[in-house]
Amino acid sequence: MSAPLLTVDDVYAGYQDFDILKGVSLVVHPGEIVCVIGPNGAGKSTVFKAIYGFVSVRLGTVHFDGHEITNARPQDVLSAGISIVPQLRSVFPQMTVMENLEMGMYLEDDQSRIHQRIQYIFELFPRLAERRSQMAGTMSGGEQRMLEIGRALMLEPKIVMMDEPSAGLSPLITRMIFENIRRLNSEIGLTVLMIEQNARQGLEASHRGYVLELGRNAYEGEAQALLDNRDVRRAFLGGH
Ligand SMILES: Nc1ncnc2c1ncn2[C@@H]1O[C@H](COP(=O)(O)OP(=O)(O)OP(=O)(O)O)[C@@H](O)[C@H]1O
Ligand SMILES: [Mg+2]
Repeated sequence: MSAPLLTVDDVYAGYQDFDILKGVSLVVHPGEIVCVIGPNGAGKSTVFKAIYGFVSVRLGTVHFDGHEITNARPQDVLSAGISIVPQLRSVFPQMTVMENLEMGMYLEDDQSRIHQRIQYIFELFPRLAERRSQMAGTMSGGEQRMLEIGRALMLEPKIVMMDEPSAGLSPLITRMIFENIRRLNSEIGLTVLMIEQNARQGLEASHRGYVLELGRNAYEGEAQALLDNRDVRRAFLGGH
């Protein structure tokens, strides 16, 4: 397999003086969809914050695309090619779909380039094109999620990190979001690192997965192997 795009190596990080992550490691290769699962409070979102420079890494390293980015500033992580779709809804509700997409490139001065990217996102998500002038806050939950993903793609990232893309969505819309992630992965080779509370479906949409527990790696492997693992099923997938 090719060299990893993103490598988190034995990271300790937390809030104030207290470590939440106590040695978390993961890798994502180019073209992969990787899913992180685990109980509430396991530290999944904190891993994303540690990668993104929102919490400081006390020990361990983060490498991306051949460079060390441990404790880099969020804007530098973004310009290195990592975009993030956060756990909480983040569309600008009083702005249109177009304006929300423009915000994904708010530092770009070249209007034609912005326009070109928006056209590209509209090709990927025809639903967003149909609703280009609609206020984002009036769109359905699934459409807002698609808009957030579209906005995250504006800067042509090398990887998109999504924190619970299915949060708050119905089972039908959840399936649609995962189908879109799979489609982007196969059509444009999009590399995805996602966190999912919806563990079974998240793994089903992914190539590989990690189970975090109490700020540490508990299990990792091919997504199908995790889905088949009796201990993982019993403890994390509500299975038998
Ligand atoms: N800003 C903060 N200050 C102090 N503690 C925090 C802060 N954010 C999170 N924590 C704590 O860190 C731990 C891990 O939180 P985190 O959000 O990473 O969990 P998670 O695995 O993403 O959970 P969930 O599935 O509920 O989203 C929790 O105990 C949480 O209370
Ligand atoms: Mg979380």
